[in-house]
Amino acid sequence: MTNRYWRIARRPEGIDFASALELVDAPLTPLGEGEIRIHNTHLSMDAGTRLWLTAREDGYQPPLPVGAPMSGLVLGEVIESRAAGFAVGDLVRAFGQWSDVSTVDAVMSGALVLDPTVTDRRAWFGPLGMNGWTALWGVEQTGAAQPGERVLVSAAAGATGILAVQIAKLLGCEAWGIAGGAAKCAYLTDELGIAGAVDYKAADVGAQLDSAGGFDVYFDNVGGALLDQVLTRMNHYGRVAVCGLLADYTSGARTAPREFDQVLMRRLRIEGFFSPDFMHEGPALTQRLRAWHEAGDLIMPYDVTTGLENTLTAYAKLFTGGNIGKVIVELPQ
Ligand SMILES: NC(=O)c1ccc[n+]([C@@H]2O[C@H](COP(=O)([O-])OP(=O)(O)OC[C@H]3O[C@@H](n4cnc5c(N)ncnc54)[C@H](OP(=O)(O)O)[C@@H]3O)[C@@H](O)[C@H]2O)c1
Repeated sequence: MTNRYWRIARRPEGIDFASALELVDAPLTPLGEGEIRIHNTHLSMDAGTRLWLTAREDGYQPPLPVGAPMSGLVLGEVIESRAAGFAVGDLVRAFGQWSDVSTVDAVMSGALVLDPTVTDRRAWFGPLGMNGWTALWGVEQTGAAQPGERVLVSAAAGATGILAVQIAKLLGCEAWGIAGGAAKCAYLTDELGIAGAVDYKAADVGAQLDSAGGFDVYFDNVGGALLDQVLTRMNHYGRVAVCGLLADYTSGARTAPREFDQVLMRRLRIEGFFSPDFMHEGPALTQRLRAWHEAGDLIMPYDVTTGLENTLTAYAKLFTGGNIGKVIVELPQ
């Protein structure tokens, strides 16, 4: 049996993924001890994976080698197993490959058998997945948001941000979002009912932030120049929870806040956080997220592209802002 997968032919420049990744066919090799084979039904598009495609050795994980398959979170059914606890037919989520079939070490890939009674399995990528865990952890633990505090989230109309603003609201905070364009800002205020939204693509970002007032928590997905704008608008003793640095991912730039002195002037705390560090809290986080989600209080729009061959179009949306909510590639079965 052969398997189609996206192979990293060279490191991408910017968002030119078509020159860097190629869809190839290869025979499936026999399964090793501890491995499972997953028939992928969905691929999760995650902005952080762009870092794995760079040559940087000082990231939170080593770069993916050129010549390797592109990795990412996948959902699907187990079709073969040599790992204890995984049976043929189980619905699983794992760090697999952008492919029709993923072959993974069950432990190393973080493979998890999922409850098949969840009506929309895509939720395992959104509210019940890594984006949900990250949003909840970042708002509640790293950001230490307290009821009544004002919480600002960047990339607020994307998968992680949409959950972070809703979670801040559910925790009794006044939630604000930053997003690109009037339509995304309207979605945040009108559909999600958060307190306000700042359009960072408009000319008057500083004025919009000034009229919003000071913030106690900044859940930052972006870094770059926006971080400087927000640092000068933080309330004293505020917290900046650094979730991601999207402004740097495709440009290769490094965020170096010019307004760093505000950390002292306003007695701020800035702290990065990374989901694998709290993976062990996953079941407890999922339980809380699932209760909110099933009550209809934590929603997620999905941006779905069909077909493995169209994966790169879906992936690029994360960096051009083409999405509202979770970007997913659905593989026809
Ligand atoms: N720390 C962790 O463990 C962890 C885990 C998961 C995700 N993350 C981080 O969470 C962030 C969001 O990732 P995601 O996968 O959920 O993607 P996403 O938010 O669904 O998509 C990315 C969004 O970011 C915005 N964006 C892109 N480039 C931007 C720029 N230069 N300046 C401002 N906004 C920009 C775009 O919306 P606009 O139209 O608004 O520009 C785009 O829709 C990333 O930084 C990622 O690394 C971190």
